[in-house]
Amino acid sequence: MKIAIASDHGGFELKQKLITYFKTQNVPIDDLGTHSPDSVDYPDYAHKIAAYILNRKADLGILICGTGIGASIAANRHKGIRAALVYNNFVAEMAKKHNDANILVFGGRTMDFDDVVSYITTFLNASFEGGRHQKRINKIEME
Ligand code: RB5
Repeated sequence: MKIAIASDHGGFELKQKLITYFKTQNVPIDDLGTHSPDSVDYPDYAHKIAAYILNRKADLGILICGTGIGASIAANRHKGIRAALVYNNFVAEMAKKHNDANILVFGGRTMDFDDVVSYITTFLNASFEGGRHQKRINKIEME
C-alpha cells in the first residue's frame, strides 16, 4: 500500500503530522506538497494528487485544505477519481465499502489529527463490497 499526500497551506500542519505518523508506522508515503505554510491555491494540489492516483503512482491519496471542501470539488473533476470528504468513522467505513474512494479529503482547520488518523485506519481496514455498489460507481461518469 503506497499512500500519496498533498495539501494547501490550510492543510499543511495536518499533512506534516500525518507524514510523521505514517513514517512511524513504516507506511511508504509520497509528499506532493505544499512544502511550507505559505499561501498557495488548493486546486493545484488537488489536480496534482488526482493525476498521481490516476497514473497509479500510489494506491490511495490523502488531500487536505482548510475545510476539505475546495479540495474535494477540484479532485472530483477528474474522471476516475472518487474523493471522499470524510468526517467521522461511519463515513470513513462507507467511503471504502460503498464508494471505493481513491482519495480521502480532510479539513486542516476543522479536524483533529487523532480523529483523522482514526478515520484513515477505519477506511484502510474496510473492504469494497462491489456488486450493486460497483454498478452505481459505473454510473457516476458522464460523457
Ligand atoms: C484557503 O484559505 C482555503 O480557502 C482552502 O484551504 C479551502 O478551505 C478551500 O475550500
